[in-house]
Amino acid sequence: MNEERGHFGSKIGVILASAGSAVGLGNIWRFPTETGKNGGAAFILIYLFFVLILALPVMMSEFVIGRHSRTNTVEAYRKLAPRTPWVLVGLMGVLCGFLVLSFYSVVAGWTLDYTLLSLTGALSGATDYGASFDAFVTHPYRPVIFVLLFLLITHVIVAKGVESGIEKFSKLMMPLLLAIILLLVVLSVTMPNASEGLTFLLQPDFSKVTPKVVFSAMGQAFFSLSVGLGCLVTYSSYFKKDTPLASSALNVCVIDTLVAVLAGFIIFPTVFSVGMQPDAGPGLVFVTLPNVFNQAFSDVPWLGDIFSILFYLLLLLAALTSSISMHEISTAFIREKFNMSRSRAAWIVTGVCGVLGVCCSLSFGPWRDVQIFGMGFFDLFDFLTAKFFMPLGGIGICLFVGWKMKKQAVRDELTNGGTLRMPLLWVFLVLVRFVVPVFIGLVFVNELFGNVLF
Ligand code: PFF
Repeated sequence: MNEERGHFGSKIGVILASAGSAVGLGNIWRFPTETGKNGGAAFILIYLFFVLILALPVMMSEFVIGRHSRTNTVEAYRKLAPRTPWVLVGLMGVLCGFLVLSFYSVVAGWTLDYTLLSLTGALSGATDYGASFDAFVTHPYRPVIFVLLFLLITHVIVAKGVESGIEKFSKLMMPLLLAIILLLVVLSVTMPNASEGLTFLLQPDFSKVTPKVVFSAMGQAFFSLSVGLGCLVTYSSYFKKDTPLASSALNVCVIDTLVAVLAGFIIFPTVFSVGMQPDAGPGLVFVTLPNVFNQAFSDVPWLGDIFSILFYLLLLLAALTSSISMHEISTAFIREKFNMSRSRAAWIVTGVCGVLGVCCSLSFGPWRDVQIFGMGFFDLFDFLTAKFFMPLGGIGICLFVGWKMKKQAVRDELTNGGTLRMPLLWVFLVLVRFVVPVFIGLVFVNELFGNVLF
């Protein structure tokens, strides 16, 4: 099966596809949920610090590995360091990709359902959104159908290929997404009592910082930027020779962070304006927001409907541009490893994630009591990937670029063979050789043994 590997057609396509991977439920659903649970502004500051000193160097390293090797994330290590255990970093990434896509599809499935509900007007005028959300997620088969539906949509885009599937979709959707977000921010900060939410977002209370908060902020930085599992190794293997790696990574980090913070500006002012609590957990955007739309626009209900259609559509599109990137990690690996057609490889990934996704979905309802390490499938997959595999993968990726790859090769990739200036190359090398591995290590030790750092 000798299909062409494919590549991204333009520089803007590269940025939008990578930003599409980064911007997703992680920004609009997970970021507000984690911020709400971890005390607000102080969590956000730690998160921003981690994006800059941990996630950005890992992203640049993934770009270096991917474009230099021009193959999937497992083969990349095999090719650049034959017959060494480095390949384990790639394999862990593929495993992690399966797990993330599985639990991600559950929330994306809820989003799909809420998009349809808001389109049909069924979301407006309810009395108890908490109860209807609970009834939905615990239902024995309804959420399961939506998980599978969402995976199928992801499958169709990935099966179409890199340029006409992934790149085209991201290029179309990302600008639309940014426009919807800006509109929602304006509406949200002008709601009554919005200032309470803004204070929660902007005034840090450092007394709330515990090892758990630091650990969660690190996990959120990795999850939100899609780094540590080789997703961006895979994407950058489709980059062209003249794609500037460092500035593309920086652009992606800026766009992602902006969207996360703007999502905070959408969610918290509205949550406080209707007197709700910010730490409502995973249901935050599914319970509080319909309530908000309903109450805020009780005089002009159609405006509330438009607001909610826009919001859930936004969430759905963001979820899709991310899920295709998770899917692509394993599709590219299986396709190249077993010399299979893209379509067949994609079906295998969709099938495995379908089974695991159904397990995650059922863990809210009929399988609520099935617990591993005290967690259901959904929470376990979320915890294992964002808080363990991705930061651990980040250590592996940075050590590989910092110590295993030839310095000249790294320099060539980051300067496009000497044609771009890179005065801060030494800072990057210090970060990937020492700072990132030591820092992640310390945060782990601090979380596991408590209060070592503070
Ligand atoms: N960064 C995505 C988000 O914030 O929703 C989630 C994600 C995408 C995680 C791709 C991992 C990944 F490989």
